[in-house]
Amino acid sequence: MLLLFLSGAPQSLVSSLKDHCKAYTIEKMQKVFPDGEQYIRILPEAKGERVAVVQSLYPDQDRKLVELYLALEALQGLGIVNSELILPYMAYTRQDRRFLTGEPISVKALYLPLQLFNVKKVYTLDLHSPRVSEVIGVNIKNLLPHAYMARKAGINIDFILAPDKGALHRAQLLAESLGKPFDYLEKYRDRVTGEISVSSHELDVKNMNIAIVDDIVSTGGTLAKATQMLYNLGANKVYAIITHTLISERTIKTLEVSGLEKLITTNSISHNVTIPAWIQIVDVGEFLCGELLSASM
Ligand code: R5P
Repeated sequence: MLLLFLSGAPQSLVSSLKDHCKAYTIEKMQKVFPDGEQYIRILPEAKGERVAVVQSLYPDQDRKLVELYLALEALQGLGIVNSELILPYMAYTRQDRRFLTGEPISVKALYLPLQLFNVKKVYTLDLHSPRVSEVIGVNIKNLLPHAYMARKAGINIDFILAPDKGALHRAQLLAESLGKPFDYLEKYRDRVTGEISVSSHELDVKNMNIAIVDDIVSTGGTLAKATQMLYNLGANKVYAIITHTLISERTIKTLEVSGLEKLITTNSISHNVTIPAWIQIVDVGEFLCGELLSASM
């Protein structure tokens, strides 16, 4: 297999994918023109091989998307069609419908062009909404890594909670793999102000170690409010198992104040902040390659 790594692929994931997928790298040249436009040239050696393009779409989502499309067009020009994509984090997928009149369906606007390049399959981690594949008409393998992450972290969990009903499928999958009970919290987000409130229905978490399972932590508002609420209900330790950590220094402060015991996340993206000891980053190279290699059998 040949892998084409674009600039969004986190360094730790690049080496791990090369190792675990037993893959070679496609060489390329890249530069930025003085006016800011991007240039890529793929060195033509990939014909006849299985090719996968690796790009993660954070930070700098917009430029990373442009780079991806430039690379796909270049591959097509070399006669390499039906390439596969490894996009550990797909930006703009939270807006998969018009929540308010006049809004765009961002997923559609940004990923519909994948059809033009005959992309065979996209491997991604923990899409906010599994509807994305249907909305853009591209075959997407949406992999949920929470059980893998929990195993790697080796934490002792009694109860698993989704921060809202929409995230229940994640909690259920992890709960089934660990043989533990699961439930969800009630989250309300004001669509105009972005203000979040979290509440719970009847929930007995006294003295328990809880894992909150979600796709994304961004401002940390959801996680901090859920954590504080669980401590108020008598939880012993609150952990979070969250695939994509799109955080700033401010998010780290918010989570520190909440008393969260540990955040377990992945190297789906490059982190551009200093990661404190209570955030554990699990390498997902082996997990992704397992899927990729089994798909070729
Ligand atoms: C949205 O519903 C997602 O699943 C996450 O819960 C959300 O993106 C977290 O965002 P924040 O950290 O800003 O509360």
